[in-house]
Amino acid sequence: MSDAILAVDDLVVSFDGVRVLDELSLRIGYSELRFLIGPNGAGKTTLLDVITGRVRPVRGTVVFDGRVDVRRHRGDELARLGIGRKFQAPSVFPELTVRENLTVAANGSAPLLRLLGRTPATVADRVARTLALIGLGERASVRAGLLSHGEKQWLEIGIVLVQEPKLLLLDEPAAGMTRAERDRTGYLLQQISTDRSVLVIEHDMQFVRQFSATVTVLHAGRVLTEGPMAMVQANEQVIDVYLGRQRHAASAPAASGKEDGDARD
Ligand SMILES: Nc1ncnc2c1ncn2[C@@H]1O[C@H](COP(=O)(O)OP(=O)(O)OP(=O)(O)O)[C@@H](O)[C@H]1O
Ligand SMILES: [Mg+2]
Repeated sequence: MSDAILAVDDLVVSFDGVRVLDELSLRIGYSELRFLIGPNGAGKTTLLDVITGRVRPVRGTVVFDGRVDVRRHRGDELARLGIGRKFQAPSVFPELTVRENLTVAANGSAPLLRLLGRTPATVADRVARTLALIGLGERASVRAGLLSHGEKQWLEIGIVLVQEPKLLLLDEPAAGMTRAERDRTGYLLQQISTDRSVLVIEHDMQFVRQFSATVTVLHAGRVLTEGPMAMVQANEQVIDVYLGRQRHAASAPAASGKEDGDARD
């Protein structure tokens, strides 16, 4: 029996003959909050695509929960087995309330109208717990389309959480948020990782620094280094390929052009 919720070994993914993930190996523990950082094109999102069955590797294995070989399952099966992912594209129904959105998600594929009329107690329980967890209890009856950007993002996280994943995958959950919203998202990540594993891709280094979590730095499809943020930040190679650019940008006369996606400090 493995002590890792996710065991990635020797993973190779190629697009048009170019290796995007290059013999990548990593482990994520049970109830661990892990951050994945690295420059644009490092392969971060591609790794999530492999874990969720959207991209097939050329080689290597990804084992979930000690027994599920992800290559043998479709994306919807992996979701049912406990791999939850929040996509950046919105998945809420703007005309439904916050509670209705969670209820629909909690019921999976059951017919929508029947669901909203009659909700089994276990589902209502899960919805109530999720509402409290994402801090939207007082907004439960508000139509999702009327929520602020931050609230919508928390609802999106709630929609995945209410399906009770064992592993939650988030790609830049704090993107576009105000400082206050980011702080609340940080608190939410702490809370949800107490009893499930969470893997977070993030470019905002100030955001990552608030956690005592392990940070994995991906570069050119490989793990460059892994450890606490303080250690990662002091690593010369990490400064060279990722963090350093930002430091120099402050004194450089002109930015190189592409700002979005660089490490933000
Ligand atoms: N479907 C695809 N077909 C071809 N190339 C792809 C595809 N998806 C990703 N790539 C390429 O694979 C590389 C890794 O992309 P990926 O999106 O995983 O990077 P990332 O680390 O998530 O970057 P970012 O920080 O910009 O989101 C990039 O060079 C990208 O252009
Ligand atoms: Mg990406």
